[in-house]
Amino acid sequence: MELRVKRAPRIDIEITVPGDKSISHRAVIIAALSNGVCVLNGFLPSEDCMHTVNALRALGIQIEQPERDTLVVHGKRRVLTPPKKEIDCGNSGTTMRLLAGLLAGQTFESRLVGDSGLSRRPMDRVVAPLRKMGAHILAEGPEQTPPLCVRGGSLHGIHYRSPIASSQVKGALLFAGLFAKGKTTVVEPSITRSHTELLFNYFLVRTAKNGDGSISVFGDQVPESRDFTIPGDISSAAFWILLRMGAQVREAVEGVDQLEPHGIVEVTGIPLKGTVIQGKEVPQVIDELPILAVAGALANGTTIIRHAEELRIKETDRIAAIAHNLRVMGAKVAEMNDGLEIHGPAALHGARVASFGDHRIAMAFAVAGLFAEGETIIQDADCIRESYPGFETVLEQFTNPKRMQISTPVIGSLSPARAERVEEA
Ligand code: S3P
Repeated sequence: MELRVKRAPRIDIEITVPGDKSISHRAVIIAALSNGVCVLNGFLPSEDCMHTVNALRALGIQIEQPERDTLVVHGKRRVLTPPKKEIDCGNSGTTMRLLAGLLAGQTFESRLVGDSGLSRRPMDRVVAPLRKMGAHILAEGPEQTPPLCVRGGSLHGIHYRSPIASSQVKGALLFAGLFAKGKTTVVEPSITRSHTELLFNYFLVRTAKNGDGSISVFGDQVPESRDFTIPGDISSAAFWILLRMGAQVREAVEGVDQLEPHGIVEVTGIPLKGTVIQGKEVPQVIDELPILAVAGALANGTTIIRHAEELRIKETDRIAAIAHNLRVMGAKVAEMNDGLEIHGPAALHGARVASFGDHRIAMAFAVAGLFAEGETIIQDADCIRESYPGFETVLEQFTNPKRMQISTPVIGSLSPARAERVEEA
């Protein structure tokens, strides 16, 4: 599928973003391990998350989907049954890595496969620590890439100092830790998103946050079944908010009743200025970096992204893809091993750009197209469905002002500078 984007007129729009991808994966896994029925509202029905749902079904968990974004998960007190065939994780690294942790503690063998993109991504980051916990796990591809063959065994807790700041690694080890004897502790080089531990706590699984920022889980616990509403995905919202670079952003957290905060972000666009994103901040905004790079091209001054070498092993090499596409659209960009230096403001022009099979690249450049002269065509845009089904509909509302008036609930609004106001039709 090709996605065609025109320059947007003045933008004044209210958007509700779909459920958080990371939280959706984790919530359905924890619900499956729980001691009863859990209703998950606001679930993200994207391809990636549905791979996790189907994997759990293949492991004997009954999951109904009465609405697109509602799941009814029949938890089986941590009892999973051997899958009849290999489990397909599609292009979802989160599915494969979290399931590796979950399956490491089972008494049967399973094999996790992925599509060609996922089959190039490194799995040693979960294989090595899971082996230390006693798992029999093998990454069968070259240089420890998928497929993953996991023969469950009896696990013991470890104190693991991860060389990589990755919430997928932390998540995999904490899930394995639920099935391990004793305590499993993960120490990270810098703090990553805390969805696994927050959800564990919500489902009454005991964890401990230690003084050094590490996190521990105690083995042999059964999550308590509860209903849960998944908040909107800030990484999806980020495509519509050009933040921290001068835009006026107002956040209103409406609640933390379920531990994960949810709320409204209101953005008033003003000319942006370049910024530096580096160090400990990087793991916190890892999925937002593609759109931040686009914002950098539109901003006054230089935007520098450093210490982001992890971007090279996402769904594609995101550093190379961003540099390539920004240049194609007329921006000045220097590529570094671990990041980018982007010289704004660029007068972006429409162009034919590749998605490189990466949903976040496709969406970031669709948004770039809203600010470019002429038409931008995103090739192979189907991958957007992996994390943000409905993205194209919102995009269409940006370029077709008549339809903007019919949008409903709020999450963000964005006004590019010096654009004309479009009156209600
Ligand atoms: C995710 C963690 C991040 C992120 C991915 C989702 C998660 O990956 O890029 O989209 O749900 O834990 P890393 O843990 O590899 O940084």
